[in-house]
Amino acid sequence: MFTRMSRRAFLKTTALATAGLLLPRFARAEPAYDFESLPPLRKLAEAKGLFFGAAIEPELFRLNKDFSAAIKKECNLIVPENALKWRHVHPEEKKWTFRRGDALLSLAQEAGMKMRGHALVWPGALPAWVVEGVGQGRGAALLEEHIGTVLEHYRGEIFSWDVVNEALEPLHGLKDGHRRSPLFAAMGPGYIDLSFRLAAQADPKAQLVYNDFLMEADPPKAQAVLNLLRGLKDRGVPVHAVGLQAHLSTRKKLESLEWFCKGVKDLGLELLVTELDVWESVPADTDEERDRLVADKTRAFLDTIFSVMKPRQILTWGISDRNSWLSNPKANGKNKEGRLVRGLPLDEDFRRKPMWRAIYDVMAQA
Ligand code: G3I
Repeated sequence: MFTRMSRRAFLKTTALATAGLLLPRFARAEPAYDFESLPPLRKLAEAKGLFFGAAIEPELFRLNKDFSAAIKKECNLIVPENALKWRHVHPEEKKWTFRRGDALLSLAQEAGMKMRGHALVWPGALPAWVVEGVGQGRGAALLEEHIGTVLEHYRGEIFSWDVVNEALEPLHGLKDGHRRSPLFAAMGPGYIDLSFRLAAQADPKAQLVYNDFLMEADPPKAQAVLNLLRGLKDRGVPVHAVGLQAHLSTRKKLESLEWFCKGVKDLGLELLVTELDVWESVPADTDEERDRLVADKTRAFLDTIFSVMKPRQILTWGISDRNSWLSNPKANGKNKEGRLVRGLPLDEDFRRKPMWRAIYDVMAQA
């Protein structure tokens, strides 16, 4: 997914990026576009019965007033980027740390936003103590305690949950494209059914979501997810929606997106866009060119979905380029150049970019 830049392009990009990063805000060249006068995305979403939101961390919301202003202005929905993951909310068997999740819930309620939960069971990212317990045959009991405790804590306040995140990986060569994990090794695919059944018991009113990535651009992954969802439905497992993470790339074609959406619709499930951002895998020199590539991919992605069904929740994974997981060189080895990426709706100064306008236009035409 990541192209090897030519040495000249690399040096030029690094120089441009360094210069841009070092210049104080007022000295950076003004962008060639201005969307500031348009209504906020949340106003458009509310008028259409939709939610637009972003993944956030409580510290950023509290410490950066520009960030919290942008979130309150543009979003009517938030999701914790990390605060409600197993390792953060239940770091030891007898230790629960709801403080950061509770802080986000309060911020959401004060700002008239809803909050969704991410993620009850991420088989590829369980804390070591859970992996050990699963290996000792305690998987079902651990799932029951974790899911029950978290959902009871937020019952009636978090309306939608990623119950299971990233359970499939066809490249692992396991039956039905399952991802190799301690839970799968110990319990087989039944851990997924059990997780959804436990979630429905703990909060019967919550929207229960299966969340995964790359269904838009990887036919084997898209088919594996549809097969999983059909199996859950056939077994009467309470699943209500699929979360399409949408970590897009300017290079990858959206080859499986349309038929994946039609498959979801045929199953009678909702489709959510849960983690939208765009990795710039096609080299481009100027910010304007980079922003155009990102916006074009965003527009094509959302147009295709809306041509099949209305995703009632559209969330980006962060709101501003200043704080994107894609800028973290440790993020799966991406962005080795250490440059600031431009894959979110607002730039590093929280100004609206063409990607913001692409989301606005598609929602406006919905
Ligand atoms: O909070 C600790 C900190 O105390 C410690 O000093 C530091 C040491 O490295 O780690 C901090 O935790 C980090 C956490 O982000 C909060 O910053 C973890 O190491 C780091 O692995 C974690 O990365 C997150 C990643 O998921 C793994 O959970 C990213 O921020 C987050 O953007 C990313 O989001 C995922 C979705 O949950 C699922 N879909 C893919 C998406 C991108 O990978």
